[in-house]
Amino acid sequence: GLSAAAIASPLAMVEAKPAAAPRSGSSFPPGFLWGTATSSYQVEGAVEEDGRGGSIWDKFVRIPGKIEDGTNGDRAVEHYHRYKDDIALIKELGCKAYRFSVAWPRVFPDGDGKPNPRGLDFYNRLIDELLKNGIEPWLTLYHWDLPQSLQDRFGGWRSTETCKIFGDYSAYVAEHLTDRVRNVFTLNESGRFVYFGYGIGIDAPGLTLPQADVNQIRHNSALAHGLAVQAVRAHGRRGTRVGPAENIDACIPAIDTPENVRATEIALRELNAGYLNVIMTGRYTDAFLKYAGADAPKYTDAELKVIGSPVDFLGLNIYAPQHYIVASDQGAGFMPLPIPKSFPHMNSDWLRVGPETIYWVPKLAAKIWKTDAIYITENGASGEDQVTPDGKIYDTDRIMYLRNYLAQLQRATAEGVPVRGYFLWSLLDNFEWVFGLNKRFGLYHVNFDTQVRTPKLSASFYRNVIARNAAGV
Ligand code: NOJ
Repeated sequence: GLSAAAIASPLAMVEAKPAAAPRSGSSFPPGFLWGTATSSYQVEGAVEEDGRGGSIWDKFVRIPGKIEDGTNGDRAVEHYHRYKDDIALIKELGCKAYRFSVAWPRVFPDGDGKPNPRGLDFYNRLIDELLKNGIEPWLTLYHWDLPQSLQDRFGGWRSTETCKIFGDYSAYVAEHLTDRVRNVFTLNESGRFVYFGYGIGIDAPGLTLPQADVNQIRHNSALAHGLAVQAVRAHGRRGTRVGPAENIDACIPAIDTPENVRATEIALRELNAGYLNVIMTGRYTDAFLKYAGADAPKYTDAELKVIGSPVDFLGLNIYAPQHYIVASDQGAGFMPLPIPKSFPHMNSDWLRVGPETIYWVPKLAAKIWKTDAIYITENGASGEDQVTPDGKIYDTDRIMYLRNYLAQLQRATAEGVPVRGYFLWSLLDNFEWVFGLNKRFGLYHVNFDTQVRTPKLSASFYRNVIARNAAGV
């Protein structure tokens, strides 16, 4: 048979040829925005350089047993120093946009107080280099690296003090960077960092608090989002767009019948009532408050008003199907089905393969929250990524995953669902939080010892998708 080594260069083979014309009907809308995404702590490294303060993740990774492979983000993939090379990789893919996050403790080492101009300067350099290469910077204000000082002084997101300070930090970033950054995300995946960080102790700061506290902290994160929206409006250049980047709890009709679709719509609203629904509507649903009972968050009407500040787009991180829904005459009208053990997944156990997720969730989200701009702020897959003796990475499993998800996303856009862009997670292999360096999500393989970047076969795949503006089927 044909061994991998017998193929001289699969990448050259793919890239030497012009992109094939898309199969009729498989194109994305003209101007569809193709991008990739990363986050500060996962890629930057350089945690002690240029006056950066400590974050809750710097501390958390040092607690024995917290990170599966005992690694940390001290070095990560040295994006802080290699950003120019990395931007060349983004360009090589043909991406028009790059989603990155600002490390709050670089800009304000203590969270508040005196800003650190050397920290901000990194983002000035990054943004300038992106623009020089024709790539739009899409900036996330918070991707989990909370300044440790705020944890020590206020208990982090347990206190609305942190929310106010986040508003001030957001205003500062908006003031200094929105002369060039046109699109800003507030908080990344609040649902995740609140529950994992304060409920089950898997993420920083590693607390296991009662449900009432978790609900209050989630409320605080929503308040922080609203304050950031207002800060960007007040201090950003006119026309700067702002919205959330949330890991919506993904619901899919188990079988596509009108009753199940209706039930799935209710499920999507109710299972996301503690965050997305409250920020998109400015109120908690009756079912949410009833279910939370004595554990419901305490809040004022004024806070709800801030939380519900109008946004310009909805950013959704979409990976695994979480709930397959059928209609029910019980409760709120829906029933999530148990998920069989044999459900296929990628090499992260949680990463079930359900391509229809990226069709149904944006479609129903657009309807529920009446938004006319949705961005897929993350989608992608981890793999085992063996390097062959000739140094190639044939990640056909990741290509399979992406091809099927993109086909379903294209199906949504063809039906008029207002998805305007897609950020693939991730540009590079990086520090995958509790899993350390074990779970590789990159289009580019990183050798963590030498820091050498090598395109995987999926980089060619994505490049071809972008060139054709089509789903790659
Ligand atoms: C969501 C998070 O935002 C990101 O930090 C993480 O690496 C990816 N999903 C993959 O798990």
